[in-house]
Amino acid sequence: MARSRPASRWTLLLSLVVLIACIVVPGLAVKHENFKTCDQSGFCKRNRAYADNASAQGSSWSSPYELDPATIHFKDGQLTGVLVKTISDTEKVYLPLTLSFLESGAARLLVDEERRLKGDIEIRHGSKVNKKRYDEAEKWVIVGGLDASKSAALDGQSETGSTKVLYGPEDKFEAIIRHSPFEVEFQRDGQTHVQLNHQGFLNMEHWRPKVEGKDEESGEDESTWWEESFGGNTDSKPRGPESVGLDISFPGYNHVFGIPEHADSLSLKETRGGSGNHENPYRMYNSDVFEYELDSPMTLYGSIPFMQAHRKGSSVGVFWLNAAETWVDIVKKSAASNPLSMSAASKTNTHTHWFSEAGRIDLFIFLGPTPQALSKTYGELTGYTQLPQHFAIAYHQCRWNYVTDEDVKEVDAKFDKYQIPYDVIWLDLEYTDDRKYFTWDPLTFPDPKGMQEKLDASERKLVVLIDPHIKNKDDYYVSKELNSKGLAVQNKDGEVYDGWCWPGSSNWIDCFNPAAFPWWSSLHKYDKFKGSMSNLFIWNDMNEPSVFNGPETTMPKDNIHYGNWEHRDVHNVNGLTLVNATYQAMLERKKGEIRRPFILTRSYYSGAQRLAAMWTGDNQATWGHLAASLPMVLNNGIAGFPFAGADVGGFFNNPEKELLSRWYQAGIWYPFFRAHAHIDTRRREPYLISEPYRTIISQAIRLRYQLLPAWYTAFHEASVNGTPIVRPQYYVFPDDEEGFAIDDQLYLGDTGLLAKPVVQENTFTTDIYIADDEKYYDYFDFTVYQGAGKRHTVPAPEDKIPLLIQGGHIVPRRDRPRRSSALMRWDPYTFVITLDKNGEANGTLYVDDGETFDYERGGYIHRRFQYRESVLSSEDISTKGAKTAEYLKTMAGVTVERVIIIDPPASWKDKNSVTVIEDGAKAGSTASLEYFEQKGGKASYAVVKSPNVGIGKNWRIEF
Ligand code: NOJ
Repeated sequence: MARSRPASRWTLLLSLVVLIACIVVPGLAVKHENFKTCDQSGFCKRNRAYADNASAQGSSWSSPYELDPATIHFKDGQLTGVLVKTISDTEKVYLPLTLSFLESGAARLLVDEERRLKGDIEIRHGSKVNKKRYDEAEKWVIVGGLDASKSAALDGQSETGSTKVLYGPEDKFEAIIRHSPFEVEFQRDGQTHVQLNHQGFLNMEHWRPKVEGKDEESGEDESTWWEESFGGNTDSKPRGPESVGLDISFPGYNHVFGIPEHADSLSLKETRGGSGNHENPYRMYNSDVFEYELDSPMTLYGSIPFMQAHRKGSSVGVFWLNAAETWVDIVKKSAASNPLSMSAASKTNTHTHWFSEAGRIDLFIFLGPTPQALSKTYGELTGYTQLPQHFAIAYHQCRWNYVTDEDVKEVDAKFDKYQIPYDVIWLDLEYTDDRKYFTWDPLTFPDPKGMQEKLDASERKLVVLIDPHIKNKDDYYVSKELNSKGLAVQNKDGEVYDGWCWPGSSNWIDCFNPAAFPWWSSLHKYDKFKGSMSNLFIWNDMNEPSVFNGPETTMPKDNIHYGNWEHRDVHNVNGLTLVNATYQAMLERKKGEIRRPFILTRSYYSGAQRLAAMWTGDNQATWGHLAASLPMVLNNGIAGFPFAGADVGGFFNNPEKELLSRWYQAGIWYPFFRAHAHIDTRRREPYLISEPYRTIISQAIRLRYQLLPAWYTAFHEASVNGTPIVRPQYYVFPDDEEGFAIDDQLYLGDTGLLAKPVVQENTFTTDIYIADDEKYYDYFDFTVYQGAGKRHTVPAPEDKIPLLIQGGHIVPRRDRPRRSSALMRWDPYTFVITLDKNGEANGTLYVDDGETFDYERGGYIHRRFQYRESVLSSEDISTKGAKTAEYLKTMAGVTVERVIIIDPPASWKDKNSVTVIEDGAKAGSTASLEYFEQKGGKASYAVVKSPNVGIGKNWRIEF
C-alpha cells in the first residue's frame, strides 16, 4: 500500500505530461512569413492603391486612358488603335491596342507599350534582358481558336465617342468601345455582361528612367519601383515598374468560379475584407507552399487565370493570358441601383480587378451563354484535356518512398493477395542514385527491369519522379551535358544559376530554350535512361520551380531564361514548359513506339491539360484537407484542367482509419486517383489497414473499377469539348440558384451519378441536394429520393458511399473484379438504367484500346444508348477512320452481359423475357428478364440476363 501512492502519483504525472504534449504538439501550419501578402508585394500594393484612389474619388475620377479616335481601324474582324495614357499636358504614353473578334465568339484585347516594342528603353545594371513586354506566353498556351470572325463588323449605329462592333453567333454580341475614358462593354442580346475599365482601374506602368531623388520631389512612393527585397533576397528590377492592371466587372452576376489553384471554396470570395471575406486578393504565383492552409487566397503550385461568372440563365468568362505573378481582387456590390441589371440577373454586381507584375494586357472575353459553351471556347484556345491511357484513370499507389525493387514487388503481390485492384505503383525521388535523375540507386534498385517485368505481368505500370533541378556534380553526365550545351537557367549576371533543392546544389533546365527539347528527349530514351521500360511513366514535381533557398521558395525574378526573358516575365508558365518537354520525350523514347504519354505535374498553367494530370500537392491527413479537396478538384475542372486529384489519405501525418477510408470513398471521385504519403508517415497501403476498414477501402476502389467505362467516357467527352469530368452543381443545373455555391457534391460526366462523399468525422448520414423533380435512386439499394430544391438525408454508415443516380440515365459499367484495369479489357458490360419522368433514358459509351493514338484514326467505339417506348437501342455515333474496322474486330467478342432497369413499369412483374435483335443477325433471340419487387421506399428492379449483344454493334432490346 505504502508504495502504491507514489506509483499512482507517477501515473498521474505521466498522464498529465502526455496530455500536455498532445495539446501543445504544433499543428502543421504554413509559414506566412515566407510568402508575400499584397502589402509586401510592390506592384500589388500599388495597383490596389490606384484602385482605392479611383474609388475614393467616385464620379470625379477619370481614367487617364483614351483611345485616340484618329487611330482606330477596323479590318478583318480586328479593331486596332492607340491607347493614350496622359501623364501630364506634355507627357503621354502610347499603347498600341488590338481588339480581335474571333470566329468562336470570343474577343481578345491586347495592349502593349510602344517604346518597349521599339526597344526604345534603357535597361539598368547592364542587364541583357529583353526590352519588350513578354509576348510569348501564347506560344505555350494557345493551340487554336484564333481565327478571326468573318462576320464581325462595325455597327452603323456607332455614336461619337464610341465605336461599336457586332460579332459572335448571328451577330448577337456587341462590343461598345468608349474612347475617352477608354472603356469596353460587352453585350449579348442587348444586355451588358462584361465591362472593362468601368471602374477606371486600368493601369499600365510605362517604362521610365530612374531619376535619383525624384520620388522626394514628386511625392510618388518609388520604394518598390527599382528594387524590392523580401526574405533576405533583393530583386534588381532592371526595367523598373512595369505592372499591368484592369478591372473587369460582371453586372448582375453574383458568383465567380475558377482561377485555380487555391485551397478555397468553389464560389470565390470577396477579397477586400469584411466578415467571411479574404483580406488579400487571390494570388497566382506558382509556388511550393509548405503545409498550405485552407480557406485561403494564397497562391499554390499552379495557375489558370480563367474565370467564369455565373448567374441564373447566363455564364460568361475571361482569360487573362499573362505569365507573370498575378493577383485578383473580387468585390460584390448591390446592383439595385444599376440600370444595367436585368430582371433575370441577380441583384449583385461582381467587380474583379486583375493585375500582373509584367507583360502585356492580353485578355479573352467569352460571352457563353452556358458553362458548357465557356468550357468549349476556352478549350478551343488552350486545348482540351488529353485523353489519357486507360491505366491512368484507374488507381495509383504511391508513397515517398518504396524503398527497394523488392519492396515494390512485395506491395504488388500484397494487392493481389488481398484482391485489391491497382494499376500503377510510383517511385518518389529515393529510387535515384544520390538524387541524380535518370539513374537508379544501385544498392536499393539493382534490378529495375525485373521489377518492371513483374509489374507488366499484370499489365501494371511504374511512374518515377523526374524533377527539373539537376544535381550540380562533375561526375554526373546529365549535369555535364546541361552545362556544356548551355541549357540551364541563368542568374541576373548571365551565369548558370545555382540553387538548392533535393540533390543539394542544383541547376535548372531551361525549357524555354528549343534546344532543351531534343536534349531532354535524349535523356528519356531507353538506352540513356538505362533500366527504364515501356511501362514506365513520368512524374514532374517541383517545377514551379521549387528552390529551397530562393525567394518565396522559387527562383529569383531577375534570373534569365532563353530569349533574355526575365524569370519574372515567364514564371507561371515555367512548369508547363517542362511538361511540354517531357511529353515530347515520352513520344520519342523509341522509334515507332507511339503511345500516349502519361505525366503528372505539380505546377501548371492554362494548356497543361493537353499534356498531363495534376494533383493538389502536399495536403495534410486532416478532415479539413479531405473536405477541401472536392472544391479544389471541381474548380480545376471549371478551369479546363479536369484530370485532377489530391493525395488520398493526406500527404503529411498519419490519418486515422476512419479518415483514411472516408478519403478513399471520396478519392474514387477524383479524376486522378492516387494515394500518396510523406516519407515520415507510417505505411498505409490499403491491405495493411485492419478490418472493417480494409474491406471498406477495397470496396471503394472496386467501385472505381466497376465504373471505369463511365469514367473513360467522361474523359473522352472532356477531351473533345472541355466539359469537366466531375462537375459541380451549378454546372449541371445552371438555372437553379440554390445550387450555385454547393461544392461538396459532384456529378460524374453525363452519367447522372451524383456522389456526396462524407468529409466529417463520426458522421453517418449526409444531406444531398437535389435540384430537379426527377427521381434519384440510391446506387446500391435503389432507395428513392425525390423533391426539387431540397436536401435529402441519405444514410452514410462507414461502409457506404452516398451515391445516387438521377432518373433518365444509362450507365455502362463492368462488374468483374480484376487485378488491373487492363485485364478488364475484354470483359462484358453491365448497363444500369433509370427512367425519367417520361419513362425514357439515355447514355453513351466511349471505348478504345486505351493506349495508342489509333483512336485519332477511327480506332474506337462510341455508342449512344436510348431507352424509349419499351425499346433499348444502341446507335453508332463514331466517325469512321482507317483504324475502325481493325479495332471493331478486336472487340467483336465483347458484349453486354446484363441490363439492370431500376424502377421499371409495374407491368413487368409478369414479364420473363425480352426480344434481342442485333444488326446482321438472321433472327431475333430472347433473353430472360427477372423482376425483383422491393418495398419500404426502395424501387423494384428488373434484370435482363445475357442479352449478349456486341458492344460495338447496332442492336435493340424490346421489352
Ligand atoms: C514534393 C511533392 O509534392 C511530394 O508529393 C513528393 O513526395 C516530394 N516532393 C518528394 O519528392
